[in-house]
Amino acid sequence: MRAANLISLATSFGLTFAEVYLGFNSGATTDSGDAKRQADFEKEFETAQKLKNSPGLFNSVRLYTNIQASTTDTPIEAFPAAVKTNTTLLLGIWCSGADNIDNELSALTKAVDQYGHNFTNLVIGISVGSEDIYRVSEDGLRNNAGLGQDTDTIIGFIRDVRDRIENTLLSNVPVGHVDTWSAWANNSNSEVIDEVDFVGTNLFPYYENDKDNDISNVTNLFENALNNTKRAAGDKPVWITETGWPSEGPDFGQAIATLDNAKIYWDTVGCTLFGKENIFWYTLRDSNPDNKAKFAITKDLSTTPIFDLTCPAEASAPPPINTNVPTDSATSLSLNTLAMIISMVFALAAGTA
Ligand SMILES: *[C@@H]1O[C@H](CO)[C@@H](O)[C@H](O)[C@H]1NC(C)=O
Ligand SMILES: *[C@@H]1O[C@H](CO)[C@@H](O)[C@H](O)[C@H]1NC(C)=O
Ligand SMILES: *[C@@H]1O[C@H](CO)[C@@H](O)[C@H](O)[C@H]1NC(C)=O
Ligand SMILES: *[C@@H]1O[C@H](CO)[C@@H](O)[C@H](O)[C@H]1NC(C)=O
Ligand SMILES: *[C@@H]1O[C@H](CO)[C@@H](O)[C@H](O)[C@H]1NC(C)=O
Repeated sequence: MRAANLISLATSFGLTFAEVYLGFNSGATTDSGDAKRQADFEKEFETAQKLKNSPGLFNSVRLYTNIQASTTDTPIEAFPAAVKTNTTLLLGIWCSGADNIDNELSALTKAVDQYGHNFTNLVIGISVGSEDIYRVSEDGLRNNAGLGQDTDTIIGFIRDVRDRIENTLLSNVPVGHVDTWSAWANNSNSEVIDEVDFVGTNLFPYYENDKDNDISNVTNLFENALNNTKRAAGDKPVWITETGWPSEGPDFGQAIATLDNAKIYWDTVGCTLFGKENIFWYTLRDSNPDNKAKFAITKDLSTTPIFDLTCPAEASAPPPINTNVPTDSATSLSLNTLAMIISMVFALAAGTA
C-alpha cells in the first residue's frame, strides 16, 4: 500500500520509476546434474543477496524452465525459494526441441494456483525460449549447438503464453525471448522482435572466436554486441540476460579462461552496467555438466566469491535501492519541486503523511 502511494505520488509529479534488475542465472540442476530442491535454491538466493563486497543487491534470478527437474509438470522448487527469500523472477519457458509448451504452462498455472500473489508479485518477466534461434543458425549448426527452434515456432509459443496468462495474476507481466546478439541482429528474425515486450540478449565475448577476443578487447566486443542488439530491438527494451567470463575452461580464439580474466571482465563490463541495465550475470553457480567452461563466481555457494567483487572507483556504483529516476523526466522538474517530493516521500515512509 505504502509503495503504491509513493509511486502514485511520484507519478502525479510526472516522475516515472523504472526498476533495474540485478541477478544471476539459475539452472534446474547442479553441476553434477542433480535436480535442485527448494533448499538448494534458497541457499543460492541467500548467497546472492549476501555476497561480500557486492556492488549491488543481487535479488533477481533468471530461470530456464518452470518445471522441476525430472518431473513432467511439477512447478520448479525455485518458486517457493524465491518467495521465501524475496527474490524477483525472470521466468523461462524451455522451447528447444519441443512440439508444444503445454507442460511448461501447466507448471506455471499450478504455481499461480498454489502460491498466488506471493509468487506472481515477484515475476518480472517471462522469457519464451533461450538461444533457440541461434542454435538453428549457421553459427549454431557449425558449433553443434543442439536442437533449436525456428522463428515461427517461437512466435507461436509466445502467443500461447500470452493466451494462458490473460486474465490471470500474471496478465501484466512482460513476455520476451532470449537469444544471442547475432540472432537478434539477423534481419530474418525481425518478426520475433515485433512479438515481444522485451529483448533478452546473451553476450559472451569469450565465445566470439571469430573476433579478436583477447580479454583486453572485451569492452569493444561487448559494446559492439549490445549496440547491435539495441539497434535491432528498436524501441523494445533490451535486457542483458547472460554475460560473464569463465575462470577455468578451454580457450576460445584468443579468449583464455582464468581467474584474473574473470575478475577483469567483472570490472570492465559488469561494473559499468550494474544498476543501469537489467542484468543477469552468468553466473553464481554452474549448472551444466557438459560445459567445460566454469563461470561460477562462488565455490560451494560461499558468500566470499572467488575474486573480489569490489568495483573499480571509476565505474559508477549502482543506486542503493532498485528504483531509479530516468534523467530526462527528472531534469524537467525544478529543484524545488524535487525537494518537495523528496520530503513528502520521507514523510510517507515515516508514516506521518
Ligand atoms: C522485497 O524486496 C523488495 C525489493 O525488490 C522490497 O521493496 C520489499 O520491501 C521486500 N519485501 C520484504 C517483505 O522484505
Ligand atoms: C502468502 O504469504 C503469507 C505471508 O507469508 C502467508 O500467510 C500466506 O499463506 C501465503 N499465501 C499463499 C497462497 O501461499
Ligand atoms: C539468419 O536467420 C535465419 C533464420 O533464422 C537463419 O537461417 C540464418 O542461418 C541466419 N544467418 C546467420 C548468418 O546466422
Ligand atoms: C577488437 O574488436 C574489434 C571488433 O569489435 C576489432 O575491430 C578490433 O580489431 C579488435 N582488436 C583490438 C586490438 O582492438
Ligand atoms: C556503442 O554505443 C555507444 C552509445 O551509443 C557508443 O558510445 C559506443 O562507442 C558504441 N560502441 C561500439 C563498439 O560500437
